[in-house]
Amino acid sequence: MGIQFDSKNKTFHLQAKDTSYVMEILHEGYLVHLYWGRKINTYRHSNFLQFLDRGFSGNPYQHKDDRTFSLDTLPQEYPQYGNTDFRKPAYQIQLENGSTITDLRYQTHSIFKGKAPLEGLPATYTECDNEAETLEITMEDSLIGLKVILSYTVFEQFNVITRSVRFINEGSQSLKLVSAHSLCVDFRDADFEFLHLHGAHVKERHIERLPLMNGIQSVESTRGASSHQHNPFIALLRKGTTEDSGEVYAFNFVYSGNFLAQAEVDQFRNTRVTMGINPFDFNWKLEPNEAFQTPEVVMVYSSEGVGSMSRTFHELYRTRLVRGNYRDRERPILVNNWEATYFDFNADKILDIAETGRELGIELFVLDDGWFGKRNDDKSSLGDWFVDRQKLPEGLNHLALRVKELGLDFGLWFEPEMVSVDSDLYREHPDWCLHVPGRNRSESRNQLILDFSREDVCYEITKRVCNILASVPISYVKWDMNRHMTEIGSAALPPERQRETAHRYMLGLYKVMESITSSFPHVLFESCSGGGGRFDPGMLYYMPQTWTSDNTDAVSRLKIQYGTSLVYPIVTMGSHVSAVPNHQVHRSPSIQMRGDVAMSGNLGYELDLSNLSVDEKEIVKEQVSHYKEIRQLIQFGDFYRLQSPFEGNETSWLFTTKDKTEAIVYYFRVLAEPAAPTAVLRLKGIDHSKQYRVDGTDQVFGGDELSYVGLAIPVEIKGDFQSFVWHLKEL
Ligand code: DGJ
Repeated sequence: MGIQFDSKNKTFHLQAKDTSYVMEILHEGYLVHLYWGRKINTYRHSNFLQFLDRGFSGNPYQHKDDRTFSLDTLPQEYPQYGNTDFRKPAYQIQLENGSTITDLRYQTHSIFKGKAPLEGLPATYTECDNEAETLEITMEDSLIGLKVILSYTVFEQFNVITRSVRFINEGSQSLKLVSAHSLCVDFRDADFEFLHLHGAHVKERHIERLPLMNGIQSVESTRGASSHQHNPFIALLRKGTTEDSGEVYAFNFVYSGNFLAQAEVDQFRNTRVTMGINPFDFNWKLEPNEAFQTPEVVMVYSSEGVGSMSRTFHELYRTRLVRGNYRDRERPILVNNWEATYFDFNADKILDIAETGRELGIELFVLDDGWFGKRNDDKSSLGDWFVDRQKLPEGLNHLALRVKELGLDFGLWFEPEMVSVDSDLYREHPDWCLHVPGRNRSESRNQLILDFSREDVCYEITKRVCNILASVPISYVKWDMNRHMTEIGSAALPPERQRETAHRYMLGLYKVMESITSSFPHVLFESCSGGGGRFDPGMLYYMPQTWTSDNTDAVSRLKIQYGTSLVYPIVTMGSHVSAVPNHQVHRSPSIQMRGDVAMSGNLGYELDLSNLSVDEKEIVKEQVSHYKEIRQLIQFGDFYRLQSPFEGNETSWLFTTKDKTEAIVYYFRVLAEPAAPTAVLRLKGIDHSKQYRVDGTDQVFGGDELSYVGLAIPVEIKGDFQSFVWHLKEL
């Protein structure tokens, strides 16, 4: 178990609960990949490497007399460029002489219990050393004094392996990293499908699954954020893999900025997967004695389909990525005023909504954008984090206290990384934003991005946010970010370091978030980037939940939340009931369906509660009180997907407690269908030997019957936009 090194065969065997990962050091020090997949007890080279003389695959100098040895055909752990491998390398370094050739060989390794933190970066962690074992393999290019440490951590019980890489310049010349992936896996075949999550603002994390083609298939972000457009997640699936069966090899990047995830199928049908900081528009100067740490990749292998992969990610992220007071605590039901008022509010309006919220059982009021500077629209004031006395004449503290007196906690919106051109901050410090001298500064939503690669900027913004958090009784912060990077450059960096700006920005942001979240441990932080534009494990390390999408339409949310659930735990997904017709797509699902979709995540409301009819208020009150009963199950239970919104008109999913004594099943049908079949829904994840009562009825079924025979979907469900819920409790 854990990590074994066979010194005779020079093989490393990493074993997690159901997974094995094997590498070998060849005699010249090349580190080759031998196996990743279902767990085996002992590896004895049944798939030994076979060497062939392949045309146009050259031979490294030491093998010049052996035409069968080429790096071009070797499955490697961290391949280099320039000495016979023509595929994409895992990294590339430019030397002072202009060359980009390096030659890494194994030097030494160490194995230790536990996992070391990654300096300045978000990463999974252990609570005690026995939970994980780490292997660090030091590779060296002795000609230039470059050391590259490949780290592998095995979380045995979580069934996860994480990887990252550290570059250390021990030579005397200045090196330039032009690419530095966090991982490479060379598979010895290409019989896979490529699964990824793509999207757009208000349409995040839609699932796409395509056969792997010859050549390169990739997803990436060049936007300075992990992005709505592509999530830093890919998986290779064996053909025929389903939710419940088949092999899945999944990769998720613990980073919130530009990334590249790619699979390259070579001429011999091998597949090379690399994932890391996007090399596009990136380089990093590494002076002698400096080091560069790549972010982490979490690798999950599942032999039981995509569902099991998701539950593995969920468990690890819920307990060993997310941190802080709220990690294991039920999350409050909130009401947010954004879609209720947008910028047009005053203290009375806010208190009206909060008061109705209290009557309905809501626990937290969140004051969204528009409370600071003179922000009556999105054209000004970002950076001026001082209360707008026109709107809130008695100040923020007074308002927060009034909300608290009503019995709700108070939460506040910030967009700390941004600055409006029309702001005192920008007038005082026009060089504090990302920009390139002599070039116009492109705006997006009328705003520019503060240069978080600069310490002075980070310091000032941290101070401004902390001043408010220290002087107002705030229990929750929504941390927004509403544009992507253009004219990326920093006034504080020399020309040769300009291409470091985007990554330095992320390091600055992580430092700011670490400082603020650790100074206010009682505050629940929710990250947001125009909805789910930075829904990634990097942000979740600092902030335990994310606003899933600016699209609050219940029908759109089926796909968005289903796609998000592939990787990210339910408890991390902010999910609100909003008004109809919906503001993004102008659709009008029933209040029941809106509630059921929102209750399948972290429930909140985002509408003017004081405008609801008496009947609607009753329904909301009922939803809120029901959610309080089930939220432990929803937020901390196991999640099973039953029917996919990407495959049809119906969606369903199920939550069970760990001990399977309780489960809740949500079924959604988007449109009414003529001549529809009378269908059944077969359940998953429940205990076949237990007897369950359907709550609110006297029906009792065995778990086996519910799983094999299924539950009849009531034909009484009529019309468009319907939902139905079964709550099962062990008898
Ligand atoms: C984008 C967010 O996703 C919205 O929920 C809201 O907070 C607005 N920004 C406010 O500007």
